[in-house]
Amino acid sequence: MRGSLLVDNIGELVTNDIGGEGGPLGIRRHAAVLVEDGQVAWVGPARDAPAADRRLDAEGGAVLPGFVDSHAHLVFAGDRAAEFAARMAGEPYTGGGIRTTVGATRAASDDELRDTVRRLRGEAMRQGTTTIEIKSGYGLTVADEARSLRIAAEFTEDTTFLGAHVVPAEYADRPDDYVGMVCGPMLAAAAPYARWIDVFCERGAFDVDHARAILACGQAVGLGLRVHANQLGPGPGVQLGVELGAASVDHCTHLTDADIDALASTGTTWVSGFEPTTVATLLPGAEFSTRSPYPDARRLLDAGATVALATDCNPGSSYTSSMPFCIALAVREMRMTPAEAVWAATAGGAAALRRNDVGRLARGARADLMILDAPSHLHLAYRPGVPLIRQVLHNGVPQCRL
Ligand code: NIG
Ligand code: FE
Repeated sequence: MRGSLLVDNIGELVTNDIGGEGGPLGIRRHAAVLVEDGQVAWVGPARDAPAADRRLDAEGGAVLPGFVDSHAHLVFAGDRAAEFAARMAGEPYTGGGIRTTVGATRAASDDELRDTVRRLRGEAMRQGTTTIEIKSGYGLTVADEARSLRIAAEFTEDTTFLGAHVVPAEYADRPDDYVGMVCGPMLAAAAPYARWIDVFCERGAFDVDHARAILACGQAVGLGLRVHANQLGPGPGVQLGVELGAASVDHCTHLTDADIDALASTGTTWVSGFEPTTVATLLPGAEFSTRSPYPDARRLLDAGATVALATDCNPGSSYTSSMPFCIALAVREMRMTPAEAVWAATAGGAAALRRNDVGRLARGARADLMILDAPSHLHLAYRPGVPLIRQVLHNGVPQCRL
C-alpha cells in the first residue's frame, strides 16, 4: 500500500527496543508509529507525530511487534487426529507417526501441499504471526524434499531443509546410506530453496554422529544450523548445536545443568547484530499435544540463556498455529512471566532466525505489528483462547479487519 500510515491512540506500545526505557519489552505509552514503504519510519510520543496520508486508530489497544514463529512444519498432507486421541487415552508419543505423514505427503499434489501451507499461514497471520519459518521433512526423497522447500519458499524467506527428520521405511536397515543420500543428492536439490538445515537428533531418529555429519554438510554449502534436540529424553543434541554454533536448538524438554550452562555460555543478549547466540526455542504446543512434561524456562532464563517460543505447527506432535496459545502455556506451565513470554515470541524468535528486521518496532524495522482488543500484552496470557488480535500489519499492509 502506498503512502504513509500513522498508528495512534495506542494503549501500550511494545517495541522490544531495549536501548530505551520501559523494561525488557521497551514499553512506551502515549506513543504512535509511522509506517512508510513497508517499514517503521518513526516511533515517538503521539503529540509529536508527523503528518501522514492515513491514520489507523488503535482504539486504546496494545500494539506489539508481529510474532516470529521460528519453528513450523507446514508442508504436509494427511491427518493424525486419531493418533492424538490415542495419546490422550494414554499412548506415548514416539515420533513414529512421522512416517504416516510422509506417505500422505508423497502422494499429494503440489497444489494440495501449497493449499495447506497457505491455509496454515493465513491461520497464523490472523493470530499475529508475521514471520514464520517453514521446514521440509515429510518428503524424504530427493524430489519430495526439493518440492516441499520450493513450495515453502513461496511463503517465507526462512525455509529449513529437514531431510533428516526420520530414516524413511525404505532405508530402515541402512541408515548410513540414508545419511549419505541426505548429504549428497538431497542436499544438492534442497539447498537452492533453503536458508537453514535441521536434524532430529534423538533416539529413534538420528544419533549424534549422523547429526554432526548432516549439519556439517549443510554448513559447508552455506546453510545455517538448527537442531531438534532433547525432546523425548536427555541427549547430546543441545550440546552438539552449541558446539557447531547453531542459531537455535529446539524443544529442550529434557535439559541437564550442563546443557543449560552450554546454552548460557553462548551469550545472554542479542541486541541488533548477528552475535552467534544459540537460542533455546521452547515449543509448549508439543508438550501439550503429547502430554509430556513442560520444560522449565525459568532455569534457562535465570542462567542467562536466550529463550524463544514457537508453535512447532505439524500434524503429529503440535497441530496449533497459535502463538498466543503458546504464550499462555509458557506463562502457566513453564514459569515465564507474561513479559518474558511475549519477548520470546517476538524478539526471541527473531534471534532464533538471526534476523534484526523483525521482532521489534523501531525505525528501520519491517512494519509488522498487531493491534490487540485489549489494553496490554498481559492479556495474551490472562485471556487464553480469546481472539484478541484485532488487526495485523504485514510489511505495513493491513491484513483486514478481523
Ligand atoms: O518437532 N520431533 C520431530 N518432529 C516434529 C514432530 C513431527 C511429527 O510427529 O510429525 C516435532 O515435534
Ligand atoms: Fe519440530
